[in-house]
Amino acid sequence: MARSESDTWDLTSGVGVTATMVAAARALASREPEPLIDDPFAAPLVRAVGVEFFTRLVDGDLELPADTAEERAAAQVLTEVMAVRTRFFDDFFTDATRVGARQAVILASGLDARAYRLTWPDGTVVYEIDQPEVIAFKTRTLAELGAPPTAPHRPVAVDLRDDWPAALTAAGFDPTVATAWSAEGLLRYLPPDAQDRLFDHITDLSAPGSRLATEDHPGPGAGLGEKADELGRRWREHGFEVQLSELFHPGERTPVVDYLRGRGWDARARPRAEVFAGYGREFPDSAALAAMRDSSAVTAVRPVVRAGMR
Ligand SMILES: C[S@@+](CC[C@H](N)C(=O)[O-])C[C@H]1O[C@@H](n2cnc3c(N)ncnc32)[C@H](O)[C@@H]1O
Repeated sequence: MARSESDTWDLTSGVGVTATMVAAARALASREPEPLIDDPFAAPLVRAVGVEFFTRLVDGDLELPADTAEERAAAQVLTEVMAVRTRFFDDFFTDATRVGARQAVILASGLDARAYRLTWPDGTVVYEIDQPEVIAFKTRTLAELGAPPTAPHRPVAVDLRDDWPAALTAAGFDPTVATAWSAEGLLRYLPPDAQDRLFDHITDLSAPGSRLATEDHPGPGAGLGEKADELGRRWREHGFEVQLSELFHPGERTPVVDYLRGRGWDARARPRAEVFAGYGREFPDSAALAAMRDSSAVTAVRPVVRAGMR
């Protein structure tokens, strides 16, 4: 079903099921030999959501086909690509809080369990923003699993196309405190103008020394969604129903680094292959993953303006 301006979802439907999909990927990546990540909450959260395909996957009851190069590439998206992506954002928060950020805002947090599994310095407050049903489900399920957050935790249930800065501020966010922001696996689900507005709001709320991590995918997006659908088609007979091309918003976007620089951030993008190499991994050499290879990891810092420097 096509997107609409105010569509809503839970973790089994619409955009929400993508949060279950990437959590399943983190569960698989956590079990790889010499794993780059350790997310002990991913599998229990996926089981609690109860989408059969993903539950069977995390339970080891479903082997993804791996007979052809394309099938192997599809499986690699769920393991290697997600492992590197997760580790990149884990390291971002660890580094940003080490150099002084005392608020973390995880935008579109989905089933991300960083508020429950990372070690946060004393005095750090972690905010998570996602749609109401997503926030309520994860918070409730982790409480039922007996998993306490590892820092003061403020879930904020609001749509990122609405007035989320007001909801974040009402939850206690302080715009005078340096903040670490992440937008992971989010941008393509926002219309292009909402993506720009997201960065405008982040900029307005970012004290000097704040940091941001996100991703950028060049091009209008249709290619990426269709490529992903092609990979997923191999799993249809096993019950995989996600159609990313229907969930992504099409249209040209301002390159993220250019947009952020235009708003005063020191921003840089690293090609995905370089991020892989930084973790001693090689980006899978597969034509089926070419569109993903073009994505980049973006980091940005809000400069500290010292007295006398203008
Ligand atoms: C692919 S998942 C990524 C989740 C999480 N960042 C992760 O990597 O595990 C996409 C997430 O974006 C959230 N999302 C997309 N559009 C949103 C919006 N307009 N408002 C709030 N959340 C949104 C979805 O609910 C979902 O949790």
